[in-house]
Amino acid sequence: MCGIVGYTGSREAYPILIDGVKRLEYRGYDSAGVALLQDDNISLYKCRGKVSELERFCLDKNIKAHTGIAHTRWATHGEPNDQNAHPHLSEDGKIALIHNGIIENYLILKRELQRRGYQFKSETDTEILVHLIRDISKNENISMAEAVRQALNEVVGTYALAIINTEQPEEIIVAKKGSPLLIGMGENEYFIASDGAPIVKYTNKVIYLEDGDVAVINTNKKIEIRNINNEKKRPYTQKLEITLDQLEKGDFPHYMLKEIFEQPRAIQDSMRGRINVEKDVVSLGGIIDYEAKLMNAKRFIIAACGTSWHAGLVAEYLFETLVRLPVEVEYASEFRYRNPILNEDDVVIVISQSGETADTLAALEIAKERGATVIGVCNVVGSTLARNTHAGSYTHAGPEIGVASTKAFTTQVTVLTLMALSLARKKGSISLSYYHRLINDLESIPQKIDIIFQQNDYIKQIASFFTNKRNAIYLGRGVNYPVALEGALKLKEISYIHAEGYPAAEMKHGPIALIDEEMPVVVIATMQGTYEKIGSNIQEVIARKGKIISIVTEGDTQVKEMSDFCIEIPATEELLMPLVSSIPLQLLAYHVAVSLGCDVDKPRNLAKSVSVE
Ligand code: G6P
Repeated sequence: MCGIVGYTGSREAYPILIDGVKRLEYRGYDSAGVALLQDDNISLYKCRGKVSELERFCLDKNIKAHTGIAHTRWATHGEPNDQNAHPHLSEDGKIALIHNGIIENYLILKRELQRRGYQFKSETDTEILVHLIRDISKNENISMAEAVRQALNEVVGTYALAIINTEQPEEIIVAKKGSPLLIGMGENEYFIASDGAPIVKYTNKVIYLEDGDVAVINTNKKIEIRNINNEKKRPYTQKLEITLDQLEKGDFPHYMLKEIFEQPRAIQDSMRGRINVEKDVVSLGGIIDYEAKLMNAKRFIIAACGTSWHAGLVAEYLFETLVRLPVEVEYASEFRYRNPILNEDDVVIVISQSGETADTLAALEIAKERGATVIGVCNVVGSTLARNTHAGSYTHAGPEIGVASTKAFTTQVTVLTLMALSLARKKGSISLSYYHRLINDLESIPQKIDIIFQQNDYIKQIASFFTNKRNAIYLGRGVNYPVALEGALKLKEISYIHAEGYPAAEMKHGPIALIDEEMPVVVIATMQGTYEKIGSNIQEVIARKGKIISIVTEGDTQVKEMSDFCIEIPATEELLMPLVSSIPLQLLAYHVAVSLGCDVDKPRNLAKSVSVE
């Protein structure tokens, strides 16, 4: 989490830094700060709140500078307040530093630095770094970059760091381990950032730092990158794969709404070039080299977090039904600490929108260490997950900025469907006619989603029913059970209404105790194998005066009659239903949150990219 931006060059740094951290606010937004190099001095401005607060704070300040660094924070150590906000300054004001990640041995280092007389102003783990680097550079009489490298050798944890210092006022030193950092290459100017969003406006030439790298960026010199062993590395420039208009809201009031409405296009992009014209072969170029491993797999294990974990649950139905192999779906955070039993016949699929989620990356490494084949499903091109897996498929959803994930989910499910279909076809585990039915239906999903969008106003009306509610229950069965989980997650994330997703039949084992006339119960009751059974579950709710909001297949009468509100969605193959049934739930959560006046794109306490465990 946390967003990092830096600039050195001939332009005014402040507007670039502020615009940059605004674009990174999805990574955290509880406090923000900027450090500017001005005539051998560092000016530091920081405060609690979003970047807009920082901008207000800086209105009457001297912001003229050509080199600077800025940060938007998601608090780990120390509450979000002015002191704990980054950057942190050395006692003599000569070094300013920003950090993303966690220094695990910070308490030991802090005690040692306090013993040496350093005074700490914040409760953060980060502040030890600035004092440690200053201490080394003072006592050892070495360059700042060397002092950074030596300091990092004492540190246990993860970091992306950017450091400016008064002795080299045109220089930014950056370092990376476990948290992403990019350098954008302009004409005699450099940009640094946690991802490409703040950079793409200026250049599409970037260098992705690797773990252990320390780079010195100075407009008077060539970039110098050294690894943790002090060996010089050749900088490797790559093309940034995003465009500026993908990062703008356009005419939409929120990124989340824009991203919901982008889904027909995003799903099409996920399928593009992967289904051949005769609709006979599904092929995912990124995993072709590992096809034999996939074909011979004895078991699939899926590890992910949050919404990506829900996509994994959908994939469990897809792979078990189509490929007829056992599938286990794991929270990456649990999997990594459970000493899991893995062998060479296992295929581990790690799913992540950002490709930077710390727990998912750790699960990936464990799976690799234990000999499994690790396949990634990921949105962000060039992310750590994409680089560290054996093979994988991008979702091609385009940048997702709203913290609540929407198009990432449906495109992950699309890619996982293609993977399962491709394997099922090659293994002959499903009939050709069923295979073709699924492919045809998959190709029609974008149009079906467009049809659901026509009910947006009606869904907005339903949302007004939720505004005085404190709780909600979401029920689904079969492949719609993960959709219920995802629907409940969307509502609680952005509206702060407590919501639980349950397999509908489990309701009577506990949640039914909560049902009264105040309880909205959202039921996904599309035509599928368990349709009749879910009808009985709905009756159980009605008998206790709960209010039913149902998602049904177009033309349904039975469930519709039992419902207080009913959203009809186009008929779809049962296995593909999550691609359509999740859409009204995204819109419902969105409209509830808007009507409650919540900050939809930046819900409290959350961050989009969780790069700390
Ligand atoms: C955070 C985000 C969620 C996301 C989860 C996993 O909690 O707020 O929207 O689903 O991380 O992120 P990933 O990038 O790995 O999919």
